[in-house]
Amino acid sequence: MTDTLELNNGITMPAIGLGVYQTPPDETVEAVASALRTGYRHVDTAAAYSNERGVGEAIRRSGLDRSEVFIETKVWISDYGYDETLHAFEKSAGKLGVDTIDLLILHQPVPARFDATVQAYRALETLLADGRVRAIGVSNFMPDHLDSLLAQTSVVPAVNQIEVHPYFSQPEARAANAANGILTQAWSPIGGITFYRGERASTLDDDVIGGIAVNHGKTPAQIMLRWQLQHGHSAIPKSVRAERIAENFDVFDFELAGAELEAIDRLDTGVRGGPDPTAITTDTFRLTIPEA
Ligand SMILES: NC(=O)c1ccc[n+]([C@@H]2O[C@H](COP(=O)([O-])OP(=O)(O)OC[C@H]3O[C@@H](n4cnc5c(N)ncnc54)[C@H](OP(=O)(O)O)[C@@H]3O)[C@@H](O)[C@H]2O)c1
Repeated sequence: MTDTLELNNGITMPAIGLGVYQTPPDETVEAVASALRTGYRHVDTAAAYSNERGVGEAIRRSGLDRSEVFIETKVWISDYGYDETLHAFEKSAGKLGVDTIDLLILHQPVPARFDATVQAYRALETLLADGRVRAIGVSNFMPDHLDSLLAQTSVVPAVNQIEVHPYFSQPEARAANAANGILTQAWSPIGGITFYRGERASTLDDDVIGGIAVNHGKTPAQIMLRWQLQHGHSAIPKSVRAERIAENFDVFDFELAGAELEAIDRLDTGVRGGPDPTAITTDTFRLTIPEA
C-alpha cells in the first residue's frame, strides 16, 4: 500500500489529506501546521470554507518548499460560469498566497443550472492548459452528472470527491468514477459525524468496525481510513486536535483482510449524511465568496 496515488494525468497526490471543512479560520493555521509536522503533505480546503488564508499561511510558515505540499481547493457554486470561475481561481490563489493550485475542483454540480456548471468546468480546463492548476476535478457528481459533463467537455476529471464512509459507501458512484478513470476521494471518510441528522449512530461507535479495530490494535477511525485506502480511495479526514490528526495519518503499517473489508462494505445503509447532490440549487446555500 502506497501513501500516494497517481491521477489520470500523471500527477502524484498524497492519498491522505487534512480536510478543513468547519475548521474555524482562527484554528486553521495550527491544524494545518500540526498536520504538516505529522507528515501530511496534502490539504483539502474550499473557497466556501473561509479558511484558505490560514492554509496558505501554515504552509508558508512550515519551512517546506511549496512543491512539497499538495493544495486542493474548490470553486463554490455562486462562482460558476466561465469568466466567474477564472476569477474564482484568482480569488483562491490570492487567499492561499500561491501561483499554482495543485487540484482545483467544482464543489457541487448545480443540476438546475448545468450549463453554468459546464462553463465552470471549461474554465478549469483553461486553467489546466495555462499551467495555473496541475489537475482538475469535481465533487458530489453522481453518475448522470458525470455523463453529462463528459459529453460536453474534453478533460476527464482527475478526482470526484464524494461522501464515502462505511454507512454510505456509494458503490454505484464509485464504479462510475472508476469506469471513467476518475479517482474517488472520500469526504467524511470516518463517518462524517458532523453531517448526521436525527438519531443516527456514528460509525465511530460501530460494533463491527470496533471489533476489527481491537484485532489490529488500531482505532475505529484508523480502520475506516485503511478501508478507504485499500479500496483505492483518497481520504481527507478533518480534525483540529493534534492527537487525532496524528492518529488519522498512522494508517500505513497494517492491512485489513479481504473478509474485514467485506464486513465493512456490508455496513452500507444507502442513506446519505450530507445534502443530496441532485437537489442543489443556487438557493440551497446563501453564500457568496468574498474577493479577499
Ligand atoms: N466536497 C464536499 O461537499 C465536502 C463535504 C464535507 C466534507 N468535505 C471534506 O471532507 C473533509 C472531512 O469531512 P468531515 O469533516 O465532514 O468528516 P470526517 O473527517 O469524517 O469527520 C470529522 C469529525 O470527526 C472528528 N474526528 C476526527 N478524527 C477523529 C478521530 N480519530 N477519532 C474520533 N473523532 C475524530 C472531528 O472532530 P475534531 O475536529 O474535534 O477532532 C470531526 O468532528 C472536510 O474537512 C472537507 O475537507 C467535503
